[in-house]
Amino acid sequence: MTTTRRRFVQICSAATAASARLVGAEPDAVIRKAMDSVRAAIPTAAADPARPVYHFHPPANWNNDPNGTIFYRGWHHLFYQFNPYGSLWGHMHWGHARSRDLVNWDHLPIALGPSEEKGEKHIYSGGATLARDGRPRLVYTSIGDREPEQWMASPLDDDLLAWTKSDRNPILTTAAHGKLKVGDWRDPFLFQEQGRTYMVCGGNISGRRWGGGGAVQLYRAENDDLSEWKHLGTVFAYRNREVMNIECPNLFPLDGKWVLIISPHKACEYFIGTLDLDRPRFEPHTQGILDAGNAYASNISVDGQGRTVLWLWGRTHNPESKGWNSVMVLPRILSIGSDGFLRQQPAPEFESLRGAAVTSEAVALGAKRTTLPGFRGDSMEIELELALGSARSAEVELRLGDAQSPAAVISVSQEGFLTAGGATTLLGRSDPYKLRIFVDRSVFEVYANEGVAALYGNLTGAVGDFQASVFAQGEGAQILSAKVWPLKAAKFTLDQFRV
Ligand code: FRU
Repeated sequence: MTTTRRRFVQICSAATAASARLVGAEPDAVIRKAMDSVRAAIPTAAADPARPVYHFHPPANWNNDPNGTIFYRGWHHLFYQFNPYGSLWGHMHWGHARSRDLVNWDHLPIALGPSEEKGEKHIYSGGATLARDGRPRLVYTSIGDREPEQWMASPLDDDLLAWTKSDRNPILTTAAHGKLKVGDWRDPFLFQEQGRTYMVCGGNISGRRWGGGGAVQLYRAENDDLSEWKHLGTVFAYRNREVMNIECPNLFPLDGKWVLIISPHKACEYFIGTLDLDRPRFEPHTQGILDAGNAYASNISVDGQGRTVLWLWGRTHNPESKGWNSVMVLPRILSIGSDGFLRQQPAPEFESLRGAAVTSEAVALGAKRTTLPGFRGDSMEIELELALGSARSAEVELRLGDAQSPAAVISVSQEGFLTAGGATTLLGRSDPYKLRIFVDRSVFEVYANEGVAALYGNLTGAVGDFQASVFAQGEGAQILSAKVWPLKAAKFTLDQFRV
């Protein structure tokens, strides 16, 4: 049977089995053309020594936001904003991959591409949820030369390899808001509560004003196939004049509270509080910066162990010629600390990539840089415990050979600030400080004090074996313990990257 024929048969049987409402699958031609383009870029992307080896990345070309993250039948499914046609933003499709362990990935066929015959130009960000039939649905913002609309797609098989768009699309339009004018309306995120399915979308209620009206709208599904929705109201208003709209809102329960994460065109912020679905109103009690570095556009999934997993787009700034651009930040496990603020820890599964550890003696820090012997590589994890004493700050530097400037400096200050790769975040004072630093060729991440702060950033300059060294400003700082592991590359398979 030809692939097209097989796909057709799949579509027909799934359509009969699941719902008479399912119409034709993604036109094979759209997906096939896009995947051919990706395949052509793979050699260029793979040849770049700066491409990270254990941060998730598509086979080639541009990605941005994680979309529709869902754990289904033992697999973590990750969809993502994908430009199959180049390594800059454009032609938004949904790429797709799956993993058993959050570390090693199978690239799957592109899940969604624009239905140009229906006026769709881009498939923007969105979310996933399980419908009553026990299968996932994807809901995304459909962009064309018209107001944004929310559209839905259903899987044609349990491996979620092929998707079909609902013939009830659009499932939600701006008309749902009545008199309320919601601008830049996009990025549905779905959750279930007390047996009902809810959705939040970002946007603004600024009207003609520019900025200051960033808001999150709440909706409830009114039927089992999630094709009818009711607007319940503005669940959160972000009173910040500098922000023109909210992108990628995520609203979810965690450790007995509700968490709202927003992407407000600057560092993502989180709010922890209570949710009243009747008013409807999300009331924040605590607030913080999710990641002060170069991460953006979050998504959430809950896995088979009940862990809440945070997904983030990790930006890079590559020229088009590199054949790739951006990664996903390491998936982070979320919890709420006893102080009421968020904790973010890299999934412990990444320990499976560790090679043999090298340990350093305790080191007293001075103004002169001390290199840590053996703390060298382009793919490694460093764990440090450091006491500041009366020093103003202690710094860890990553530098390539005798390069004029360091690739990154990570420091903690007497005032309790963590600075890394030029970004600063308040960590709070502590003694000692605990840092975990992940280096992956041209990107890095820092996790401080058991996940009180987490930061993704880019290493500057050339890539190669970075050497870690330490120093302090002022007296009395010391490294109490230090360990480094080389990290192996994660596995990314292409066997399923075909239609
Ligand atoms: C966030 C975002 C979303 C939008 C998508 C388009 O990075 O701007 O608001 O849906 O990217 O690619």
